[in-house]
Amino acid sequence: TRKRASHTMSNAQSSRRYLIAGNWKMYKTVAEAKEFTRTLYDQIREEESLLPDIVLCPPTIALDAVVHAIEKTLGGAPFSVGAQTMESHDEGAYTGETSPKMLADLEVEYVVIGHSERRQYYNEVDETVNAKTKAALAHQLTPIVCVGESLEQRESGQTDTVVTSQVEAALQGIAASDFEKLVFAYEPVWAIGTGKTCEADEANRVCALIRQTIGKKGSAEQTRILYGGSVKPENSDQLLGQSDIDGALVGGASLKTDSFSAIITAAVNQKKGAVVSA
Ligand code: 13P
Repeated sequence: TRKRASHTMSNAQSSRRYLIAGNWKMYKTVAEAKEFTRTLYDQIREEESLLPDIVLCPPTIALDAVVHAIEKTLGGAPFSVGAQTMESHDEGAYTGETSPKMLADLEVEYVVIGHSERRQYYNEVDETVNAKTKAALAHQLTPIVCVGESLEQRESGQTDTVVTSQVEAALQGIAASDFEKLVFAYEPVWAIGTGKTCEADEANRVCALIRQTIGKKGSAEQTRILYGGSVKPENSDQLLGQSDIDGALVGGASLKTDSFSAIITAAVNQKKGAVVSA
């Protein structure tokens, strides 16, 4: 594998694999989740050798069904399953919650932590994000830690300090040897569900800032950093062609197999381009 040496290189030339994750939020019944999984598989199976890592994050109640749709029905499809949130404790009197131990038992492999909707509506704060990130690692779940500024913070010039402090807080007490297992997602709150995408070069600048922030405590060379916020087929080529964007955390466009598979294909095409130019 070649080392990423310059900022003119895209992820496609780096040793980091692209990761395309679909966060379904509170959409899809169990039956719809299974149907989606099978249809997506049919749409992307031909690209198998160059596929990015693909993660489906259904609602908690559909996790088991999607794991089984992948493992049994499809004979081990090239996707993984992620939860959208979890508690940090293994078990206890936490009514309504799901623990990392339970997710690991279901063969869920990823978990989204600190999504801005969790921060906004469910009191998720930097300390809980940190505790959950540690708990995920302890259970061999890959955390996808979300960070990002609000519109107000962007307009008052606080983007870099907000993002840096969220990243530093998430990393508290985590060994540098675990950094390669972490995934961060830069999701500017003003770009989520609004149709307003962050310009690719600005998204890349903030993703590079996240990498630098991690890099102050250890190597961030293998840490994957995703962009999220109104990612769609029309802007995915540009976003995925950036040096420090290693994939996408997709909301709305992950709910339809056509748009989600088009974003996956954009990652495949970046890798194909890299193979051709190497
Ligand atoms: P949208 O892609 O719908 O803007 O959502 C982004 C998001 O929040 C993914 O976690």
